[in-house]
Amino acid sequence: MSELTRWTAPRIASLKGREKIVSLTAYDFSMARMLDEAGIHLILVGDSLGMTMLGYENTLPVTLDQMLHHTAAVARGAPHSLVVTDLPFLTYQVSVEQALSNAGRCIKEAGAGAVKVEGGAFRAPTIRALVENGIPVLGHIGLTPQSIRAMGGYKVQGRKAGEAEDLIADARAVAEAGAFAIVLEAMPSDLASAITSAVPVPTIGIGAGAGCDGQILVLHDILGLYGEFKPKFVKRYANLGPEIKKALAEYSAEVREGKFPGPEQSY
Ligand code: KIV
Repeated sequence: MSELTRWTAPRIASLKGREKIVSLTAYDFSMARMLDEAGIHLILVGDSLGMTMLGYENTLPVTLDQMLHHTAAVARGAPHSLVVTDLPFLTYQVSVEQALSNAGRCIKEAGAGAVKVEGGAFRAPTIRALVENGIPVLGHIGLTPQSIRAMGGYKVQGRKAGEAEDLIADARAVAEAGAFAIVLEAMPSDLASAITSAVPVPTIGIGAGAGCDGQILVLHDILGLYGEFKPKFVKRYANLGPEIKKALAEYSAEVREGKFPGPEQSY
């Protein structure tokens, strides 16, 4: 695949102010192929796979090996989109050396084009080290799900006194450290717009309003494939859960009744 037809981190960064960035999560080959064919700029192999693919309650138990396994499948299905691996909890927080060697595995072994790390100003040294060593980094500030224990749950950020200023400072620090773009999660729209104006790199919002340079959502949420609960910031573009259940019931009935396979499906 030529680098000219692939979305790279620098090409995504250059979209700021010119074109909205379209991003979604994906975790497997077949879905990645559809996203790639749909022209999605950036596919995040999110640690949300802990919930959508592995049935955990949150992202905390996800391992690097699980991320490598899913990233490799996505990379095989997506020759044009930028594939970004979410570094999971405690695979980059311990030391810069740990971050470098684990992020390096995402690039070398799984074929990722970049990694995502959560955290603001305090994460800047890690981001700088990754970028200086040739690993593009997508930042992530606001609601950072790997810190739910410390945050006390999934809460909108930036509403309390001083929090908005801190988040603007975080975004500046992450951009200065070399991140090619920053995910802004769960914050008031006017704050996300202010951050978007304050940094030279694109912001990609999730629950952060329309003023961001791009948007990202969890694929299973927009397709109606994960649970009944729909967070306020999610728009469901299809409701495939009931469709799949209907198909399974039909198959099941036909097998039980001896209607499948018919002559068309038999040798
Ligand atoms: O893991 C994830 O899916 C994320 C979101 C930003 C979509 O981090």
